[in-house]
Amino acid sequence: MFRLHQKLAVRIFHGCNLLALWAMIGSGLQIYVANPVFGGRGGLTPPFFLCLGGWLAGGRHLHFFFMWLLAVNLLCYGLYLLISGHWRRRYPSLQDLKALSFSHNPKRRTYAWHRLTLVGLILTLCLSLYTGLGMYKPVQLSWIVDSVGGDWQALRIAHFLPMVVIVALATAHVSHIFKIGEWALVQSIFFDAYRPKKAILSEGDRSEPVS
Ligand code: HEM
Repeated sequence: MFRLHQKLAVRIFHGCNLLALWAMIGSGLQIYVANPVFGGRGGLTPPFFLCLGGWLAGGRHLHFFFMWLLAVNLLCYGLYLLISGHWRRRYPSLQDLKALSFSHNPKRRTYAWHRLTLVGLILTLCLSLYTGLGMYKPVQLSWIVDSVGGDWQALRIAHFLPMVVIVALATAHVSHIFKIGEWALVQSIFFDAYRPKKAILSEGDRSEPVS
């Protein structure tokens, strides 16, 4: 049996990230309900059980509180990646791009897609924080508003859409995890898990033949 062990720092980041995202999405939807972007007041609104905070001010309180958790967590994760060198193993290399262009090995291609999806997730999280800061302090950070053409509605949409992209990428992320390491790999991000054979993303997977 092989033990699937994720680094403690990674587990803490991942857990805090999931908690913060759940709260940010739920409270963000609650804020959106007060003034829908798509279709006006009678337009598209999410089901009430997805919303958090109960009313506009409740949603705003939660949104601003968990924004700190999301931002500080992301910053600490970035520092951890740089200092520990963990990014070399977890994020794409030239070999991954080669594998996506030339490889006929489905396993190797999934590893590469997995790493690219992580890049997409992190960049989209950064984009949602960037546009969120612009909405939070539009006067002090007017350059953020200007970067989307100085249009408030464009900024709202640029803040809303990353949430949809994050949900789509997270779905792809979980499907890659299942393909590569099955249920045991899913468990490993929350607590140690065991697997009969070694087929994991964490170690040595770049040695998987590219063609
Ligand atoms: C929006 C939600 C999510 C984000 C932003 C996210 C992000 C990430 C990131 C950045 C990593 C790489 C961590 C590292 O540096 O080693 C990772 C790994 C992982 N995630 Fe997620 N994740 C999300 C949701 C989920 C969910 C819902 C599950 C499972 C139920 C999951 C399971 C895993 C597992 C098992 C790994 C380790 C993969 C490996 O060993 O290569 N993630 N995730």
